[in-house]
Amino acid sequence: MAILAPSILAADLSNLAQQIRMVEIAGANWIHCDIMDGHFVPNITFGPIIVKAARRVTKLPLDVHLMIEKPDNYLEDFIKAGATTITVHQEEVIHLNRTINEIKTLGANAGVAINPSTPVSTLEDIAEFVDLVLIMSVNPGFGGQTFINNSLRKVGEVAELRKKLNANFLIEIDGGIDRITAKQSLDAGCDVLVAGTSIFKSDNISAATIELKNLIG
Ligand code: DX5
Ligand code: ZN
Repeated sequence: MAILAPSILAADLSNLAQQIRMVEIAGANWIHCDIMDGHFVPNITFGPIIVKAARRVTKLPLDVHLMIEKPDNYLEDFIKAGATTITVHQEEVIHLNRTINEIKTLGANAGVAINPSTPVSTLEDIAEFVDLVLIMSVNPGFGGQTFINNSLRKVGEVAELRKKLNANFLIEIDGGIDRITAKQSLDAGCDVLVAGTSIFKSDNISAATIELKNLIG
């Protein structure tokens, strides 16, 4: 059964506790937190304070996706705030092996993400050390964008890489996930599906969560 990770980027942050509880009760498995700094991506969202607030209202794993420059400087803050998994971008981190080790030493699971234009081959020498590989299926920075179709091919390539390395990281997809792309991503080999708009901007958050959960279950 795949993991559903609603992204609170699309949630009503003035009702964060209620919104998280709603998706939790409806069967969400993880809570995805999109951290943006206005440098690595054009948008700014929130930092460890909101992750800490989320930690107080749920026992679900917090899946923290760092779309920021110099993520090394903030790993400890996010882990102290309650992050379960920290994912950094391959494009931003120069000493990726060191950063992945540091995340694990600090007590969190470690993930690596790649943008739509970054080939899977760039992960060949780091994949065996991570707990999660995140394939971005939109250009990071904003919710509500259209799914980029060749992401499905990349998911297949990551699954092949996992097999070749005899590794056991999870494969996550993020961006433009709705009923149709959720099913396609699952068929392509994804283990974790992030969904923001299709859950939190829907008319009925509980029903949308349940529907996606049933689809990927
Ligand atoms: C994009 C973020 C995504 C985004 C997904 O930069 O990493 O997690 O919130 O949102 P939707 O589901 O709206 O594409
Ligand atoms: Zn994300």
